[in-house]
Amino acid sequence: MYVCLCHAVKEAEIAAAVAGGCKDLDTIGEALGVGTSCEICRSEAQSIIDTVLRNASQPENVCKQELISKNQASPLQQVINF
Ligand code: FES
Repeated sequence: MYVCLCHAVKEAEIAAAVAGGCKDLDTIGEALGVGTSCEICRSEAQSIIDTVLRNASQPENVCKQELISKNQASPLQQVINF
């Protein structure tokens, strides 16, 4: 789906740019032209950026939860340690 009609940029291209290191709308605008003409697409582009960044952070959160649970001793281990 096209997000930016002025520069013929699709949602997937914005997502790829975010995954490639463009973390904000200004940087993506410099790279792809999104939001640099009529600016109608800026809110939709920002929404895509936010979604990609939020989804990219989820595996890290899962890892943190796994580390927390691994560092918590089981009730049996707590008795043994006592
Ligand atoms: Fe993106 Fe116009 S639609 S700048």
